[in-house]
This record gives sequence, structure tokens and C-alpha cells, in this order.
Amino acid sequence: MSDLLKMLGCRYPIIQGPIGEMNSPKLIAAICEAGAYGMLALGFSNAATAKKLANEVKALTDKPFGANLMLLNQANREILDILAAAGVKTITTSVGSPKEIYKRIHELGMKGIHVALTLTHARRAEDAGADGLVITGLESGGLRSKDPELTNMVLIPLVVDHVKVPVVAAGGIADSRGYRAVLALGAQGAQIGTRFLASTESTAHERWKQAILDSTDGDIVLLPLQKMNVRVIVTQKLKKEMQDPALDLSKVYDLKYLPKAWGTGDFDLFPASAGQVSALIKEIKPVGKIIAEMVS
Ligand SMILES: Cc1cc2nc3c(=O)[nH]c(=O)nc-3n(C[C@H](O)[C@H](O)[C@H](O)COP(=O)(O)O)c2cc1C
Repeated sequence: MSDLLKMLGCRYPIIQGPIGEMNSPKLIAAICEAGAYGMLALGFSNAATAKKLANEVKALTDKPFGANLMLLNQANREILDILAAAGVKTITTSVGSPKEIYKRIHELGMKGIHVALTLTHARRAEDAGADGLVITGLESGGLRSKDPELTNMVLIPLVVDHVKVPVVAAGGIADSRGYRAVLALGAQGAQIGTRFLASTESTAHERWKQAILDSTDGDIVLLPLQKMNVRVIVTQKLKKEMQDPALDLSKVYDLKYLPKAWGTGDFDLFPASAGQVSALIKEIKPVGKIIAEMVS
């Protein structure tokens, strides 16, 4: 058994990628029941929300599940206590410095896997005590950095060559080909975002799921924001705007409109995020089927 599987305690080394604070206990439980590692996306949640969600997942499955903590959240210490009490053994941490939190994670008898976008950040997280790394290449959906980024084809073996802890690849994985490819690159597992977003159990707006199904190569672009980029599905409006070099897109699209846009499917307000792998997704399927096909 790989070190990663020992940490996760599930059958397959597949982790559900956090999607902001989008949480469906039913989706998480379905992922766990299918043998993968379902995860709460706690983002900027407070302790009460974390407790409620953890209890809801526990009521639906007795399989192990985890949680993603965004390191900028002030409530993380309280949340860690709640997760430990709920029996969560392994969490992931992202967006922020891992320097302080790993001591507490270990004091609680838990393991932590840090999400990193570059070799430098991966090494820093290992030095800070991370027990594993999720390495996310430029293909990935979600927020991206303004710095130059590598594809997983290069980034995964590069990081694997320089760290001792297990590496999980995130970005570009939707089927057994992508899954086997990242294992061949030296990762011990895969983190899946977009493919689970476009699943039967996902609570994403139907227009969001349809936009993923409709997209092909060239439809997934990087939208510049003030301090970050976000990988999005292009809209007709955005396509036109991108042709105007004088237009500062970071002034057109503001993250404050994201919850409303994604919640209502009004993607002119803020485009829906998804990974480049959207081009490979042509059918909404139950997560059990997605996972079974991936590991087949
Ligand atoms: C809409 C969206 C929101 C995301 N939000 C987060 C987040 O809040 N925290 C995080 O660590 N990763 C986030 N991610 C990244 C995913 O957890 C995952 O690593 C990524 O989607 C993997 O690439 P894939 O989409 O090609 O599978 C997000 C991804 C998407 C598509």
C-alpha cells in the first residue's frame, strides 16, 4: 500500500478537489462510498458550519473523508479541533502559508497535505511539515497564480524528484488515461476538480455543467484578476472583451460577483471556472461510475 493510501485510508488514491465552499454531503459520501476520498471544502467557513457539515457526511457514510482548509481562514484552529473530534484523519491545506498550521495538525494526530503550484512552494511546504503535496499544474480549474506556471507533464516529475513526501497530481484528469498518466509521472494519486463538478450528484448549476459539456479546446481561458488569475469557461461576452487589448479585464470582473454568478448561472457577471480537461467531458455521470471507469 502506498504512503498516500495509508494516509487517506480509502481504496483508491483519488481525492475530491475542493470547489470554493461548495459542499454537498451527498456528493462527498458518494465519492467515499465509491472508494475515493471525499472532502469538505471549508474555505472561509466558521467552526459551526464545519461541525454541521462533518456530521452530515458522517450520517451518510462510515468511510473516511477529509476537508480542505484555506490557510487565510482565522477559524482554522477551531475547525481543526472539530475535524479531529469528528474522526477526520487527513486534511488538505491551500491558499496561504503552511508555516504555522502543521504543528497543530500533528498535535491532533492528523496528517496534512498541502496544495502547491510550484516546486519552490512544494519544498517550503515539506519543510513546514506537510505530510504530502497536491501539485496543481496549469491545466487545473480554479484560482491560478500570476507567476509562470508549468503543465503537470513537467511539474509532477520535477516535484517528485525533489521531495520525499507523496505527491498527488491535480489538473487535467477526467478518465483512466489521465489517472494512469499521472501515476506514470510519479504521483501516488490524483485530485479531481472539474470531472466531479460535472457529475450527477454535483450541486453546480445546470448551466455550469452544460458549459463544461459544451466546451472544447480553446474555450478554457485564464481570466486575469487583480492579484490572481482564474481559469474559466469563455463566454461570448468574454470572447469579445479579450479581443480588445485596451480593456483591463481585472476591472471588468470582480470576485465579489462570483457567488451570485456561479449560484445563478449568470456567467456574464463572472464566468464559470473549470479546468482545461472540460474539453474531454461529454456526459454527466454519477461519481461512482466516474471513479470505477477511472481506476479500470
Ligand atoms: C470552480 C473551481 C473552484 C475551485 N476552488 C478551489 C478552492 O477553493 N481551493 C482549492 O484548493 N482548490 C480549488 N479548486 C481546484 C480543485 O480543487 C482541483 O485541484 C482542480 O480543479 C484540479 O484540476 P481539474 O479541474 O482539471 O480536475 C477549484 C477548482 C474549480 C474548478
